[in-house]
Amino acid sequence: MQRLARDNRPLHFGTNFKMHQTPEETARFLAELAPRVDRVPDRVRLFVIPPFTSLPAAIAAREHSGLTSRVWIGAQNVHWAGEGAYTGEISVRMLTSIGVDFVLLGHAERRGHFGETDEALAKKVPAALDAGLRVLLCVGETAEEKAFGVGPETVIRQLKIALHTVGADALSRLLIGYEPVWSIGAGGTPARPEDVMETVVPLRRALGEQFGEAGGSVPILYGGSVAPENCGDFVTLEEIDGLFVGRAAWQVEGFERVLEAALAARGEASGYRD
Ligand code: PGA
Repeated sequence: MQRLARDNRPLHFGTNFKMHQTPEETARFLAELAPRVDRVPDRVRLFVIPPFTSLPAAIAAREHSGLTSRVWIGAQNVHWAGEGAYTGEISVRMLTSIGVDFVLLGHAERRGHFGETDEALAKKVPAALDAGLRVLLCVGETAEEKAFGVGPETVIRQLKIALHTVGADALSRLLIGYEPVWSIGAGGTPARPEDVMETVVPLRRALGEQFGEAGGSVPILYGGSVAPENCGDFVTLEEIDGLFVGRAAWQVEGFERVLEAALAARGEASGYRD
């Protein structure tokens, strides 16, 4: 499986607000981000994933700030059915009809707190991709699975089930987020580069086995306690195509600090700040 040289591949960078930020706060975040985006190299693809209630405000603020071509706005979940008796759920068409272009699926908090299964993801991922949405599919092993030495096979299992019916033609809209469950949130420990490689190399191989050459083009992002101090460890790994940041990027200053540190680690800092 051939891959473009790292410097020729896009770098993806974004944040998931989780259950934080009102529509007003989200709009303010995007308005504050706008003047800083001009300094970001074109090769960097940015995304922001606010709560459902903030999506219309985020899309309006993105357009108003001239960020439409630079920042993807994502939802944190979607249902697989076109419509139906699914109280509390949101369909793909509801997202696309308001201009959402991106959806996060399989986040560890949805799997852990809300019982989201691999089988549900096997329906959600193709439903979203078929509708033209980009999908960031999260995979990751728990601390117990890592301790038992089944981290790589756990994430490969998650990947294979979620992508079971996905065809190579949809791969240009797919991104994978590798987030070890034990690394996420205030109680998490950031992964070491060797932990990431131990899992991401077999993950990449599994993409190649399923999709052939096309599997080499699917970006794999790292997430879990990413901060300015450690982001360079991840973005300099050959297999890592970006960062998926939580707490450290919920304010624009933090978002900028992590991005700036990641670009510096890649030798691309110049021009980002005055
Ligand atoms: P964190 O969140 O950076 O706050 O650990 C990461 C995530 O859940 O995606």
